[in-house]
Amino acid sequence: MAYDLIVIGSGPGGYVCAIKAAQLGLKVAVVEKRATYGGTCLNVGCIPSKALLHASETYSHAAHGLDALGIEGVTPVLNLAKMMAHKDATVKSNVDGVAFLFKKNKIDGIQGTGKVLGAGKVSVTNDKGEEQVLETKNIVIATGSDVASIPGVPVEIDEKVIVSSTGGIALDKVPGHLIVVGGGVIGLELGSVWARLGAKVTVVEYLDTILGGMDGDVSKQFQRMLVKQGMEFKLGAKVTGVEKAGSGAKVTFEPVKGGEAATIEADVVLIATGRKPYTEGLGLKEAGVALDNRGRVEIDNHFQTNVAGIYAIGDVVRGPMLAHKAEDEGVALAEILAGQAGHVNYDVIPSVVYTQPEVASVGKTEEELKAAGIAYKAGKFPFTANGRARAMLATDGFVKVLADKETDRVLGVHIVGFGAGEMIHEAAVLMEFGGSSEDLGRTCHAHPTMSEAVKEAALATFFKPIHM
Ligand code: NAI
Repeated sequence: MAYDLIVIGSGPGGYVCAIKAAQLGLKVAVVEKRATYGGTCLNVGCIPSKALLHASETYSHAAHGLDALGIEGVTPVLNLAKMMAHKDATVKSNVDGVAFLFKKNKIDGIQGTGKVLGAGKVSVTNDKGEEQVLETKNIVIATGSDVASIPGVPVEIDEKVIVSSTGGIALDKVPGHLIVVGGGVIGLELGSVWARLGAKVTVVEYLDTILGGMDGDVSKQFQRMLVKQGMEFKLGAKVTGVEKAGSGAKVTFEPVKGGEAATIEADVVLIATGRKPYTEGLGLKEAGVALDNRGRVEIDNHFQTNVAGIYAIGDVVRGPMLAHKAEDEGVALAEILAGQAGHVNYDVIPSVVYTQPEVASVGKTEEELKAAGIAYKAGKFPFTANGRARAMLATDGFVKVLADKETDRVLGVHIVGFGAGEMIHEAAVLMEFGGSSEDLGRTCHAHPTMSEAVKEAALATFFKPIHM
């Protein structure tokens, strides 16, 4: 029987697309080569890393954060195997949840490696090498991304001593010294996990700033906070070699601006220099599906490739490699395929770094507004002036609201602070509705909450904050 839709890949892009399409009445199959659904995000990415981030932060808070609240004598004992078991259980309940949702929505889950044979035909080869060819009206490529390693530097990732994020969430002991290559999201999140559990962590980053692309104010302050937590940074440093040395590994880097190379050794090296679209073995070339110069599947505004009936979403196409961006694309594409008007607003895609404190951002940074020549007003409010933050000893950080100078429309909001990843969504909703900083500043916020800082930063944009 022919399907309306075959989705290749069951990560957040693929599984959400499949569920939405099934909800809209389409006959859907999902092809997945892993033993479980959920892709990188649920199996070895977002979900397990958040389990470890929460557990390690709780440990660190118990070790260092309780005295000041009048809770003395607590000396937490780390049971890493149990922490990993919590991570594994979290993954299991999430991937089982996707399997349940497939059943509920009558989606056929097909285990095996999918290959596009051309419009309307997908071959699936299972673990035993058996191949079947399925027919479908539409194909969705949602195969995600894979570790990109270091550009131009051959590195042998063994997932024990030289690890990618996959090995970085599965170490069996806390390394004495961890070198993180790349001061992006993965490097800082996983670096935080192991630093909190007792590792010395050195981050080697090519750019002069961590979290390149984030608002400059935010990344500067955030770096200061991480240094206070014990992390060491070598910025403007280009890694040129990573090799095993004894039971550990050594990393060689040179100043980007020129100068002498240096080598440092560690027990474990985490490679976190980005991810690349995953299209290997998919048969796209043979099927005539065009890729761009960065290996991404080329699509039009409706997610269609150059071959009619073949679509692509998520990390394998242009745009930020974020699970929620992939999910939104999956929903929009399912709606389009069901004859509705699916749409993704790429101007309002929040991004969150789940460290402590968290970093969250939506819309344009100050640097982007300057570069685009857009006249803007900035309002900033520090958590030191927020009552709830004081009560929780969570005064590190600030909220920054950027609004159009003429129209007052909010163009970007950036938060570094406890709970930033939750607070950012009031800004996202406001921006989705084209709201102004005055709308935000005049919206009643419950007292005492951290979110009042968002309101105060908005007030600072068009008039004055009250509590400063
Ligand atoms: P990234 O692109 O965020 O950061 C990679 C960093 O490596 C960059 O700062 C780059 O300048 C640096 N780098 C590259 N070559 C280098 C060299 N030779 N020497 C030193 N530094 C070098 O990539 P990352 O952290 O690996 O994450 C991959 C993707 O996964 C990103 O798109 C990210 O958005 C996504 N992700 C998102 C998360 C979240 O939203 N919380 C969590 C984890 C991943």
